[in-house]
Amino acid sequence: MSATEFLDRIASRIDRIDRKNLEHYLLDLAQKTKFIQLLFDRISEGVMVLNFEKEILFTNRRMVQLFNLPENTAQKKILEQAIPDEPLLALLSKAIHERREIFQEEFEVLLPRPMILNITLLIEKNEAPPFILLTISNLTGTEMDIRERFKLENWESMLGLAAGIAHEIGNPLNSITIHTKLLEQAFKKLTADDRKKAIRSLEVITDETARLDQIIRNFLRAARRKPLRFEVEQIHDLLTKTVSIEKPELKKLKIRIQSEFDKKIPPFLFDPERMQQAVLNIIKNATHAMPKGGLLKIHTEKKEKLCLIHFHDSGVGIPGHILPKIFDAYYTTREEGSGLGLMIVYQIIREHGGRIEVASRPKGGTTFTIILPIRLEKLRLPEPEKEKKP
Ligand SMILES: Nc1ncnc2c1ncn2[C@@H]1O[C@H](COP(=O)(O)OP(=O)(O)OP(=O)(O)O)[C@@H](O)[C@H]1O
Ligand SMILES: [Mg+2]
Repeated sequence: MSATEFLDRIASRIDRIDRKNLEHYLLDLAQKTKFIQLLFDRISEGVMVLNFEKEILFTNRRMVQLFNLPENTAQKKILEQAIPDEPLLALLSKAIHERREIFQEEFEVLLPRPMILNITLLIEKNEAPPFILLTISNLTGTEMDIRERFKLENWESMLGLAAGIAHEIGNPLNSITIHTKLLEQAFKKLTADDRKKAIRSLEVITDETARLDQIIRNFLRAARRKPLRFEVEQIHDLLTKTVSIEKPELKKLKIRIQSEFDKKIPPFLFDPERMQQAVLNIIKNATHAMPKGGLLKIHTEKKEKLCLIHFHDSGVGIPGHILPKIFDAYYTTREEGSGLGLMIVYQIIREHGGRIEVASRPKGGTTFTIILPIRLEKLRLPEPEKEKKP
């Protein structure tokens, strides 16, 4: 007979069991419950049990440690109060709402601290009462792991860049080859007419070579990366300075700027030069999206140990099918764009251990949000070059 069958049987006969036996069963039960709790607390994965209203019914000690939960997190707390990282909360809430299970999905969170998590969510619909079992393990490992990951990501996007550049160089090269052949033939018999054709081909070659030169220049600008130099600075000073660089352009285009800075954000560690490059790229994109003028709101917000910088423009917006591509190298919808701007922004924010989010509606404007961890010590960050010397 299983333990639950045994308990069911006792429960059905409870009025017929004498007091002494009942006491014995109860003590035994309390001991077993304590033992099970102990087992749950010893396992290395975080475990959380929820009902379908997202109320927390149980958490083990590991889960409490992972999310800095108050020790007595149990009844009446809901998932929203326990998971501080919004993208993770959104993933779990959506899955619960759709009754969709998640198996061993890797997820990177910034709150309550940067971690790489492995998540499993099981939906036990047919149990009485039905429940949801969330298990989370921390894959972050050592600080070195994180650095290795950043290096790998950088390397991968560099490969993406190289593939893009190879593709871009292909077209002008083809046409240079064709026109050189045409030139050879034309020069053989130099009648006035042929000379004209030859000169035309020469012009094409000159133009195409200039285009190649431009592609290489842009590529080198993106690829040539100085070592990061982190300084403790006030992000608001940087935002004000960067806006003032763009002031003449903004004025010309009749774009108003509205800044709202959260005074709770302290000076923190970032590379001012790289961060300015990122902010400038986002502002430039906003101006391109508002050719007939508009409003650019820049507002900052402190959320736990994160600094959020929102850039909201009242521009043309980005259609849904384009959104997933905007951070790709060479993706552009502008005639004179190179499509490297947002890829560079993404790189810079990743190097700072942050994240960039975008929300947009066609005609409803676009919001880019840069999320940066507020760090004061040079821990977990790639070391500035000067500190590597003994
Ligand atoms: N604020 C915005 N509003 C509307 N569309 C935008 C906005 N920001 C970016 N985009 C879209 O994303 C595309 C990619 O932007 P990205 O900055 O990478 O390249 P680009 O601006 O076209 O060229 P450049 O390399 O000169 O920056 C843009 O071409 C545009 O279609
Ligand atoms: Mg751009």
